Amino acid sequence: MGENKNPETADLIFDGKKISLPVRSDNQGQKGIDIRTLRRDAGLVTYDPGFANTASCQSSVSHVDGERGRLLYRGFAVEDLTENCTFVEVGYLLIHGRLPTRTELEKFSALLNRHSMIHEDMRTFFSGYPEGSHPMAVLSAMVVSLSSFYPELEESETEELDITATRLLSKLRTIAAFSYKKSIGEPFVYPSYKLSYCANFLNMMFSSPVTDYQIDPVLVRAMNKLLILHADHDQNCSTSTVRLVGSAAANLYACIAAGICALWGPLHGGANQEVIEMLERIHREGGNVDKVIERAKDKKDPLRLMGFGHRIYKTYDPRAKIAKTICTEVLGKLGVKDPLLEIAMKLEEKALADSYFAERKLYPNVDFYTGITYRAMGFPTDMYTVLFAIGRLPGWIAQWQELKRDPEQKIWRPRQLYMGADHAPFVPMEKRG
Ligand code: ACO
Repeated sequence: MGENKNPETADLIFDGKKISLPVRSDNQGQKGIDIRTLRRDAGLVTYDPGFANTASCQSSVSHVDGERGRLLYRGFAVEDLTENCTFVEVGYLLIHGRLPTRTELEKFSALLNRHSMIHEDMRTFFSGYPEGSHPMAVLSAMVVSLSSFYPELEESETEELDITATRLLSKLRTIAAFSYKKSIGEPFVYPSYKLSYCANFLNMMFSSPVTDYQIDPVLVRAMNKLLILHADHDQNCSTSTVRLVGSAAANLYACIAAGICALWGPLHGGANQEVIEMLERIHREGGNVDKVIERAKDKKDPLRLMGFGHRIYKTYDPRAKIAKTICTEVLGKLGVKDPLLEIAMKLEEKALADSYFAERKLYPNVDFYTGITYRAMGFPTDMYTVLFAIGRLPGWIAQWQELKRDPEQKIWRPRQLYMGADHAPFVPMEKRG
């Protein structure tokens, strides 16, 4: 966390009084007014719905440069990491702040294997869910249940932290695959020590006692890349949720479960499912993209172009670029001709040429092309956000850990501007309505 080397102040005149507030700078030139004394000195609070102008913390985990379309994990460009690393390596990088040596990676991978099974008693939980339960509901409930089975949390030394991190990373993947198997009525496939993280996941998802499932290295590579693309994204909604819950000193499992719930929202990670549903609708209705674009522009219509727009990116999301390449590679390798890809490309082309989207700087985001790839790989639509959660987990763990180690952090407790009644006279039951 960088120290403020160039102290500046921002002056605010309010009620005839000048209040000088210190200005902090991050290492990318973003300046932030430190308002911690504002209420004490001026009786003022700030009003910022959606926290669009608020830095909630100082962080070194990842950086999103929305103007230049850059994404860094611990300083490394996401493009370099997707090209050269496995998801496990990137997970280590985020959690430990540096790339692992070969020995460290081997140890970390061995721990992932050791912790890959879930307690046998947890298997029975799956049968309690009604048919058609969304796997995100199952995932969040299962993750918070882990706190009962594995209450001890190691977080201090490298090796101890690795136990907690690998336990979560490995079990989340197993829970995800089990919830899918349960939803289709097939027996669970256990993780195998012989397989890598992503190969293991594909095997748990798609092999069965009666099939000879061949793990395709092209799909393993694509899976690694897709998970890396999702691994962290500074203070987004689910990460902020993890930090918010963590600020109350809740245990890590509870924080991650809360993050999963936030991610489920269609304006956040749930958008990847919504994109496919939108593309399918367009396909069913004859493939007319113009109609959808017109509807998305109409302020009276609640429809938004899913997979488009971002709070921070005001240019092409770098993840979307990589996701588009992965998508064409996977479909090409599998020989899949998906009409939804054509519709997506037409939609993108038309939207980018439209002044509504250009003026608002709305570009495809990471969710726009990932769903088509997952579909070609055989994942059902409601698993897409689960895949996002598996990818985002190392980021959540790293951010939670950073919060715990940050002496400036305290319980998150925003203020409000109260607009309700000042004194409502009590009305007895018989006089109500
Ligand atoms: N389709 C149509 N119009 C849009 C879209 C869209 N997808 N996104 C934003 N706009 C318009 C808004 O209506 C608004 O227009 P106005 O200025 O005329 O009122 C303007 O663009 C700014 O939009 P906001 O909603 O203020 O932007 P915000 O930063 O709050 O929202 C968000 C960002 C939620 C991602 C938004 O762009 C959206 O809803 N996109 C679709 C959902 C989606 O793809 N979510 C995934 C995001 S990536 C992720 O979380 C992994």
